[in-house]
Amino acid sequence: MGQRVADYSRELIGEHGSIQTLRDLIARVARSPARTVLIYGETGTGKGLVARTIHRLSSRTSQEFADINCAAIPSSLMESELFGHEKGSFTGAVERKIGLVEAANGGTIFLDEIREMELTLQAKLLSLLDSHQFRRVGAVRSTKVDVRFIAATNKVLLSEVRSGHFREDLYYRLQVVALNIPPLRERGEDILLLTRHFIDKYNVQYGRNIRGISDEASEILLKYPWPGNVRELENLIERIFILEDDNEVLPRHLPDRILRTVRAGARTVPAPTAEVTSEVGLNSGFYEATAQFQKQLIEAALSAADNNQQEAAAALQISRHALRHQMIKLGMRDA
Ligand SMILES: Nc1ncnc2c1ncn2[C@@H]1O[C@H](COP(=O)(O)OP(=O)(O)OP(=O)(O)O)[C@@H](O)[C@H]1O
Ligand SMILES: [Mg+2]
Repeated sequence: MGQRVADYSRELIGEHGSIQTLRDLIARVARSPARTVLIYGETGTGKGLVARTIHRLSSRTSQEFADINCAAIPSSLMESELFGHEKGSFTGAVERKIGLVEAANGGTIFLDEIREMELTLQAKLLSLLDSHQFRRVGAVRSTKVDVRFIAATNKVLLSEVRSGHFREDLYYRLQVVALNIPPLRERGEDILLLTRHFIDKYNVQYGRNIRGISDEASEILLKYPWPGNVRELENLIERIFILEDDNEVLPRHLPDRILRTVRAGARTVPAPTAEVTSEVGLNSGFYEATAQFQKQLIEAALSAADNNQQEAAAALQISRHALRHQMIKLGMRDA
């Protein structure tokens, strides 16, 4: 067998059951004729990596993989970016322009942060998904294409449908093949496997020889909830390579934010019940302890409701608005 050269940007690392299942699904979806795939995962869980892997394992691999972030492009430009335009179709359209959809014919288009796509464009996308045809801006005739769309989101799209931000028909269309990437905190020992992976990667990149991570530091990483998921872990490891000279990762290399969270968490019990409130309050500062407790309650309610905020709010007997407000206050979501 030939020597395999590690490619640190391509491999989906993980042995947790949920990741093995995900890997199987990726392989199946890649080989399938599915024209649309939806990837759901919190920020930093690996949505971009999964999208690229699907493309790489598919028969489309020799064609283009076009990546477009719906949040980064002003919605006024998005349509022409995707579909292209005819010469003179609007002020400034001095030449005919080929859009991503045409350029990626035979390949894959990755629509990141799909929730941010404008409703009118969502309708045009749906029509393309149904008919495999689209119209350049200002064109009379439609053009046929064969592309696979992979859409990604870190928002629960069903809530977005309910609040009128996302078209229901497009939602159901995308939902046909949907992959869910679990948050890092739910992948157990994979946290250490990924740590090892990033240490190997940065040893090569920085010409260092960090041997590994101490048991105490491992314990801390296993307990930390990783709100920024795999990206947060990777950034942490790189930071240690830049700032520290030791050849082992030690607890004192970890930022205060991580140490504090883990220390606060150790004083609470995972399932929040009325009895633990006093215990939590006695062992840590009042504000930190109550914030921690509120966070746990919300997390438990969300998880029981399968991340449906409406249901979680109902279970907590507060309004959905109040739930959102609390989540923003507690740093559990962006404003
Ligand atoms: N299972 C994994 N194995 C190896 N590397 C991973 C894994 N998951 C994520 N990564 C790496 O972590 C970083 C973040 O992943 P990625 O950008 O795909 O996340 P994302 O879900 O798209 O994030 P965002 O929501 O912020 O766009 C990338 O460098 C990616 O290669
Ligand atoms: Mg991404």
